[in-house]
Amino acid sequence: LHIAVLMGGWANEREVSLMSGKGVADALESLGHRVTRIDMDRDVAARIAEVKPDIVFNALHGAPGEDGTVQGMLDLMGVPYTHSGLATSVVAIDKELTKQALVPHGIPMPGGRVVPSTELFDGDPIARPYVLKPVNEGSSVGVAIITDESNCGNPIARDAKGPWQQFETLLAEPYIRGRELTTAVIDTGEGAKALGVTELIVASGFYDFENKYTDGKTTHVFPADIPDNIAALCLRYAARAHKVLGCRGTSRTDFRWDDERGEDGLFVLETNTQPGMTPLSLVPEQARYCGIEYPQLCEMIVADALR
Ligand code: DAL
Ligand code: MG
Repeated sequence: LHIAVLMGGWANEREVSLMSGKGVADALESLGHRVTRIDMDRDVAARIAEVKPDIVFNALHGAPGEDGTVQGMLDLMGVPYTHSGLATSVVAIDKELTKQALVPHGIPMPGGRVVPSTELFDGDPIARPYVLKPVNEGSSVGVAIITDESNCGNPIARDAKGPWQQFETLLAEPYIRGRELTTAVIDTGEGAKALGVTELIVASGFYDFENKYTDGKTTHVFPADIPDNIAALCLRYAARAHKVLGCRGTSRTDFRWDDERGEDGLFVLETNTQPGMTPLSLVPEQARYCGIEYPQLCEMIVADALR
C-alpha cells in the first residue's frame, strides 16, 4: 500500500505527534509499505491530492487532526484514513461533550462544570480540591490541580500565572484522589477488544506532560495491581465508551480510581481517539504485552480503516 502518514501540525502536542508519526512511518516501511511522511500544514489537502495515497494514517494529536477537521477534509476528498471519523472526533476531543455522551450509558465520570476562564478571577468555580483543564487539549496540556495549599491560597487571582490562562474555556472537575489507570481498545476485525489495564505511577506531582514524555519519570505497571472487579470494570467501560462514541481503529480510555471507595470510586476522565504512538506510549505497550508487536499494531489500525 501507499500510505501517507500525517504528523506534526500546529497543536500543543506537535512534538508528540512527530514522535508518533516517526514510529508509525518506520514500522509501516519495515512491513514493505510505501510511506510518504507529511508534516501537517495548511496546504495539506493539496499535498495529499498530489501524493494520491491509498490511505492516510492519522498520527496527529490535538487540533486539527483529532477534532474532526482533518477527518472532514479527508471525507470530502474521498481518501480513506485510520482512526475515528468526523462525528466521533468532534465529540471525543471535547471532555464536556464526551460526558454528555457517555454518562447516560452508565459510564461514571466526574461532575464539575465548564467555566469561562475570566470567571476564575471571581474565585473558585467549585469546591477545592479540583482539577482545571482545557476542554479540548491532550497530554495534560494546561492542566492544574488546585488544592487548599495552592499558590498562596489564591491561584486564580488576576495576576496569577497559571497554565490555564491561554484557554478561553476550562473544565473544573472535583479532584479524585487515588490512582491513575488506562485501558486501550483496538478493533481486531472480530470486534473491539479492550486489552488490559495499566497503572501509571509518577515519582512526583501528577501524570502531566513532563511525567508523560520523560523516560523514567513514570512507572507503567501492567497488568495494574488492582482488584479483579476494578480491572473488569475498566475493560467494560473502555469498550463501551469506544462503542458509544463510535471510535474506529483504536482508542484509549483514561481513569481515576479512588481506592478507598471500591467500585464507586472509579471514574472515566476521557476517551482518546488519537492515542499516542510514541515509544513511551500506552497503547503500543499494552498491545505488546498482549502479543501484538508495534508494526503489527500499525498494520491492524490500517486494516481496520480499509474494512
Ligand atoms: N494525547 C496523547 C497523545 C495521548 O492520548 O496519548
Ligand atoms: Mg487525552
